[in-house]
Amino acid sequence: MKILVTGGVGYIGSHTVVELQQKGYEVIIVDNLSNSNIGVLDAIAEITDIKPAFEEFDLVDKNLTEDFFKRHSDIKGIIHFAAYKAVGESVAEPLMYYRNNLYSLVNILQGMKDNNIENLVFSSSCTVYGQPEELPVTENAPVQKAESPYGNTKQISEEVILDTVKSTDIKGIALRYFNPIGAHESAIIGELPLGIPNNLMPFITQTAIGIREQLSVFGDDYNTPDGTAIRDYIHVVDLAKAHVIAVERMVNKKMKKSFEYFNLGTGNGYSVLEVIKSFERVTEQKLNYKIVGRRAGDVEQVWADTNFANDELGWKAEQSLDKMTLSAWKWEQKLASNK
Ligand code: UFG
Repeated sequence: MKILVTGGVGYIGSHTVVELQQKGYEVIIVDNLSNSNIGVLDAIAEITDIKPAFEEFDLVDKNLTEDFFKRHSDIKGIIHFAAYKAVGESVAEPLMYYRNNLYSLVNILQGMKDNNIENLVFSSSCTVYGQPEELPVTENAPVQKAESPYGNTKQISEEVILDTVKSTDIKGIALRYFNPIGAHESAIIGELPLGIPNNLMPFITQTAIGIREQLSVFGDDYNTPDGTAIRDYIHVVDLAKAHVIAVERMVNKKMKKSFEYFNLGTGNGYSVLEVIKSFERVTEQKLNYKIVGRRAGDVEQVWADTNFANDELGWKAEQSLDKMTLSAWKWEQKLASNK
């Protein structure tokens, strides 16, 4: 069964391609390589013994996307990862974010409609909940006004899909990710941030390996037990497995509504200092960090209620925080040894 994975060369995409291929799916990747490295295709082949089919083009281009779908109308499902994802950059370059993240989705949905492709899994984010009033946050919590153009593209995308499923045979599953971290246990694929990382985990590992001098911890005056902000960190392989299950649910016609939303987290919240302590524990080294002021736009605390995903998808995140931080470290060491 043929599955299109857009952004399949990227961080979450590549881990998902591995899981799909290991379950026997035929994968075709479309990626414009704007934030990824072509070498990942060989890395995927090293893990799975299969090099996925790959086409390099930009899904923002309507004609190229139309042409692609004409040639691949036998696709049974699409997992759409391809998008820009840096919150700060989206504030500086909103049009770039709206154009890239929304045009590509519209072009994909059009291709699905024209070629009778029914199943779409969409990469969404817990950012749609903002700072929830109740924790843990369920899928029924109200969507709050987005803090950034990036977050807004996720909210608008969910609405675009919702409107589309109402008037076509297309079905959608939005997976709302909490904070994906870690790398494949083989350390053959992982996260490859370009430039200075925005996210906590790659900043920690790059500091420990000596690429960055010091980690700044953004704020210790939050209303949390140790004063630092709390997130629900989830291992990227656990996340990848949920995508395969979502595809299976769609192709086996197990959906209860034509558009469903699921939280993908572990259900546990950890503070920034707890993540640092886990990293120090599993790697047996001290991390150079200092407390600085809060980062604009950060929510104080958020973690997932995962009951709906656990019950409906029959999926549960399995890997502990220590396993996540250790796998991220092994990946950073592997990158350093390749230099
Ligand atoms: N943090 C630091 N120092 C750093 C980087 C991060 O202290 O150098 C802190 C942040 O302030 C936050 C926590 O670590 O408290 C996690 O920050 P990340 O940047 O790793 O993740 P975010 O929760 O800010 O962002 C993630 C995704 C976004 C998404 C957002 C939704 O990366 O795509 O969740 O809340 F929009």
